[in-house]
Amino acid sequence: MSEATSSPLISLDRVGKTYASGIMALGGVSAEIAQGSFVSLVGPSGCGKSTLLRILAGLISADSGAVAWPATGARPAELGFVFQEATLMPWASVFDNVWLPLKLKGRSREQAHERVMSALSRVSLADFADAFPRELSGGMRMRVSIARALVTEPPLLLMDEPFAALDEFTRETLDDDLLALWHAQAWTVVFVTHSIYEAVYLSQRVLVMGARPGRIVADVKIDAPAERGRDFRESHLYIDQCAAISAKLREAS
Ligand SMILES: Nc1ncnc2c1ncn2[C@@H]1O[C@H](COP(=O)(O)OP(=O)(O)OP(=O)(O)O)[C@@H](O)[C@H]1O
Ligand SMILES: [Mg+2]
Repeated sequence: MSEATSSPLISLDRVGKTYASGIMALGGVSAEIAQGSFVSLVGPSGCGKSTLLRILAGLISADSGAVAWPATGARPAELGFVFQEATLMPWASVFDNVWLPLKLKGRSREQAHERVMSALSRVSLADFADAFPRELSGGMRMRVSIARALVTEPPLLLMDEPFAALDEFTRETLDDDLLALWHAQAWTVVFVTHSIYEAVYLSQRVLVMGARPGRIVADVKIDAPAERGRDFRESHLYIDQCAAISAKLREAS
């Protein structure tokens, strides 16, 4: 699907948000996000990245500007939201944690079984369906959170610094898992990260936000081979693009 000819999935027109405390978190964000694309948001702490993601998810509303969904006419009914912390129910098994979104839609354990197991397989955790969160590593818990976000097969996945608390090696592995999943599904991903390196590695486009009030200061298209991997991570092409975004971020801070 070509970005130039198809309607964007998300169209943001001067979206603003001021919290009741008087803090203006977003001061007019305009951007279009193509269906099926992988877009990252980077920016200094407090610039409104999580606020923007929550507006996209419909968890809070903007108080000025407009959020439109040109390709689908409305926000997709199914969307996956992965929070920074793996917010699992500690008393429930891995299976039951991933079953939750389907259970809330009235699906019995039997009806949901195939989809839960398929979501767990996609994050390589099918063998851990009966384990409890306390028996898993941090990276595995994060993968359970991702499986739970995927189980309804949402066309839109919103991820708020999902791998921030993990060590570099686990993070790189999950980055590759996520890219493989994104290639396999036809979904749209909006990914918030503090890591420029991660943003450039994963994305087709990086939106750089500036603080006070939050706005987009640069929209950078990433040039990368179709198959990203160690070679890309170690290439000049990659390092130069990281440096360019780092410079834009410094200007914005
Ligand atoms: N529920 C809230 N009530 C009042 N102010 C809030 C609320 N949530 C966020 N803010 C404020 O809005 C601004 C943007 O916050 P937000 O969490 O969106 O930033 P962020 O870019 O995600 O930061 P970080 O990178 O640290 O996660 C901050 O100044 C924050 O203090
Ligand atoms: Mg945040």
